[in-house]
Amino acid sequence: MARFIDFGDVCELPPRRTENAAEARGLVYDQAVKAAVDHLYDEVADFVTPMEWPAIAPLVHGINQLKKQRNAVVLAHNYMTPDVFSLVGDFRGDSLQLAREAAQTDAEVIVQAGVHFMAETSKILSPDKTVLIPDTRAGCSLAASVTGADVRLIRQKYPDYPIVTYVNTTADVKAECDITCTSSNAVQVVETVARDWGVDTVIMIPDEFLAKNVAANTDIKIIAWHGRCEVHEKFSAEDVRQIREAHPGTLVLAHPECPPDVLEEADFAGSTSALAHYVSEHAPQKVVLLTECSMSDNVAAENPGVEFVKPCNLCPHMKRITLENIYDCLKTMQHEVTVDEDVRIRAKAAIDAMLALPKMATPPGFKVGQGAVPLEVI
Ligand code: 13P
Ligand code: SF4
Repeated sequence: MARFIDFGDVCELPPRRTENAAEARGLVYDQAVKAAVDHLYDEVADFVTPMEWPAIAPLVHGINQLKKQRNAVVLAHNYMTPDVFSLVGDFRGDSLQLAREAAQTDAEVIVQAGVHFMAETSKILSPDKTVLIPDTRAGCSLAASVTGADVRLIRQKYPDYPIVTYVNTTADVKAECDITCTSSNAVQVVETVARDWGVDTVIMIPDEFLAKNVAANTDIKIIAWHGRCEVHEKFSAEDVRQIREAHPGTLVLAHPECPPDVLEEADFAGSTSALAHYVSEHAPQKVVLLTECSMSDNVAAENPGVEFVKPCNLCPHMKRITLENIYDCLKTMQHEVTVDEDVRIRAKAAIDAMLALPKMATPPGFKVGQGAVPLEVI
C-alpha cells in the first residue's frame, strides 16, 4: 500500500462524494454490479473508502456497459483522479500518448477524460469519430493565453522563424502554427524544425516556462510567449528547499511547466509520463512530484513501495471530469466537440508534423541543476 506524507494544506482535494450519485441516476449496487466490478476495488483502495465504493461501483459498471453499447473508449490523462484513471480509462497517459491513441483507435466514440484542448486534438485527428467532453468548462490557462489572431501577428513580426505550439492550445492556434509539441518531445521538435527551416531561432508558444526550460536544453534560440500554467507556476525553488529540509532524502521530480528555478533545484524533470517512468525505474524510497495532485496518486498505485511527499497543486479544469459526468456524457452523448473543417485541416498538419517524428523509446528528461537561459518573451 502506498504511503503519503501530508504536506499541509497546499493540496485541496475535491470533496468526497456525500450523496449516492449512482442512485440519483437509477443505478444500484446489486449482485450483478458486485460480480462485475468489485474485483477492481483493490486498484483504488488507497483513495476510495469502503463506504464510498457502493456509490462508485454502479457508476463504473454503468460506464463500462455504455462503452460497449456505444463502441466508445475513454482516453484518460495522467491528471485524472484515480477512480477515473484506473477504473474507466481505456488508454491512459500523457498528452502525446493520448494524441497518438486518438489517431489510432477503432472506436466510434472517444470520451476525453482530460481538458478541452485534448478533446479538440482527438477530433482533429479522428474527424469521423464522435468526440465527447464530460464538462465543457474543462479549459486550460495556457490554451486561454493565446489566440489565432495573436499567432498571425507573431507571424507578421517574425516571418522567417518557425512557430512551434505546445498542444495546450486551441485548434485555431494550432491552425496558424508550423508544428505542435508536448512536454515529452519539445526539445526534439524545436531542434527538428530549426534544422528543417535552416534557422537558429524558433518561436515557441504559449508556455513561457516550458520555452525557458527547453532553451536550457538546446543551442537553438527561443522566442517565447507569456502564457503560464496556473498549476505549475505556483511551485517555487523555495518549495523545493523546504521539502528537502522537512523530508531529507526525498527525490524531487518536476514537470517542465514549472519555473526554471524549480528545475534548477530538482533531481529530474520531464513530462508526466517521463516522471512516472522515472519513479518505476528508480524505485526511490521517498519522492515528490512537482505537478498536478492526481499524478502522485496514479503513480503511487503502480509503485506500492514508494513513499510520496505531496505538496501538489490541483488543476481545477482537470478536476471537472468525474465518473458522474463521464456516465452522463455516454448516456446522453453530450457534449460533442467539433472543429471547423478548414481549421481542422490546418491544425492537423501541425499535429501530423509532430506525430511523424521518430518515436522515443523512453520519454526524455530535461537537464536539471542549471540556471535559466535569458530569452525574449513576447
Ligand atoms: P503532459 O502530460 O504532456 O506532460 O502535459 C501536462 C499537462 O499539463 C497537460 O495539461
Ligand atoms: Fe492547463 Fe496546467 Fe491544467 Fe495542464 S495542469 S490543463 S497546463 S492549467
